[in-house]
Amino acid sequence: MAAAIAIDGPAGAGKSTIAKKIAQQLNMIYVDTGAMYRAIGLYFHRLGVAPEDGETIGRLAQQAEVSIAYEGGKQQVYLNGENVTAFLRTEEAGNMASAVSVYPQVRQMLVRQQQKLAAVRDVVMDGRDIGTVVLPKADVKIFLTASTRVRAERRCEDLKSRGLPCDMELVEKDIIDRDWRDTHRAESPLRQAEDAVLVDTSDMTIDQVADRIIEIYRERQRPAAKTEKKEA
Ligand code: DC
Repeated sequence: MAAAIAIDGPAGAGKSTIAKKIAQQLNMIYVDTGAMYRAIGLYFHRLGVAPEDGETIGRLAQQAEVSIAYEGGKQQVYLNGENVTAFLRTEEAGNMASAVSVYPQVRQMLVRQQQKLAAVRDVVMDGRDIGTVVLPKADVKIFLTASTRVRAERRCEDLKSRGLPCDMELVEKDIIDRDWRDTHRAESPLRQAEDAVLVDTSDMTIDQVADRIIEIYRERQRPAAKTEKKEA
């Protein structure tokens, strides 16, 4: 495995903003695994499949090919050859992603792809199961969290900055519901890995969080560098 930083945590904790920043500073690629689940969510939403129809979802999951590419340093997500990046950050895609991510067929397919990518590239990967399932041997594991109110405020700011409407109460309710589903599903529930560092971002700036994670990463790299020198 190449170098890897795993960042897990609930929706709106700041994972993607922080992970992107760290990836840039450490010259690694940023892998947003939530976007891959959102692409699958979009696939079933477009097909009109009910989220509780596990049998159909399990069967059709094999026909959805999700792949990622980097254009101008930015992650682009392809669904059966179509660039769907622009359609992924809506509440519908997010809710559908959360609903279909409970099915093992969906998870297995995406986890395999994420592991393949991390085997050949230095990655900062964020999601729900990165430290526990996808990259259990990651160099650094971070569990990012923040209060539901702060997370709802951040989600609204994000939606508004893209010209989309936002109902704060509704967004906070969605976050609470999604947290419950993500932490209670049988397959790879969201939980902090035993060796992950917990970082509550409610009262921290983006730069403070990014600097803290980079510091942890460098501290972990240092003992290895010393050993190498001694051996030389
Ligand atoms: O991080 P996000 O909000 O873009 O993720 C959308 C949904 O995808 C989230 O509710 C849970 C699911 N997900 C997952 O189950 N495992 C991951 N590694 C990433 C996301």
